[in-house]
Amino acid sequence: MVSSCLASEGKTTTISNLASVMSELSKKILLIDLDLRKPAVHKQFSLSNRHGLTDLLLNKDDFNAYLNNIHPGLDVITSGKIPANPTEIINSNAIKGLLNRLADYYDYIFLDTPPVALVSDPLIIASFSDAVILTVAYSETERDAIKKSVDSLKQVNANIIGTVLNKIPLSKHNKYYYSYY
Ligand SMILES: Nc1ncnc2c1ncn2[C@@H]1O[C@H](COP(=O)(O)OP(=O)(O)OP(=O)(O)O)[C@@H](O)[C@H]1O
Ligand SMILES: [Mg+2]
Repeated sequence: MVSSCLASEGKTTTISNLASVMSELSKKILLIDLDLRKPAVHKQFSLSNRHGLTDLLLNKDDFNAYLNNIHPGLDVITSGKIPANPTEIINSNAIKGLLNRLADYYDYIFLDTPPVALVSDPLIIASFSDAVILTVAYSETERDAIKKSVDSLKQVNANIIGTVLNKIPLSKHNKYYYSYY
């Protein structure tokens, strides 16, 4: 899963890029929008979000009907309709059962999530995810706030495998960027 401390740090952008790049490495990737509060994965891939995960769980449908194939190796399940009870859905056995079934068909499942400091959903998602990547927006988020989010994630035994430092102003770093080439 990918999360961040606060809103708009670049979680959805990061996870969409990661999923795309991994699928180009001949891996079978599924990206699921588990931000049931402010879903945006569908926008990244210009998909309709009329039907998605919440509908799949509610109707107990076959998941195949909800897969959007982006290109060979990359499928996306959008969030579906924003529910009244997102945390309840995230905490349900239904979602864990679905992820277990999907795991048989994919090399990696990427989960987009809401911000750690604002809602409890990402902590629940972290508790059943194999790995967590934190996106941190350069010079936007306070160090203490990030530390608190990391502590919250550690309390649910999250396996934090890395951080993506995002939104670095290129003008400041161009010198270093070009010096490599
Ligand atoms: N590296 C970047 N440089 C500049 N702008 C960026 C970068 N990454 C993301 N953005 C922009 O920042 C905004 C927030 O990005 P994104 O939607 O990926 O964040 P998010 O953490 O998923 O937000 P939310 O908390 O609303 O889910 C978008 O307008 C996106 O285009
Ligand atoms: Mg997002």
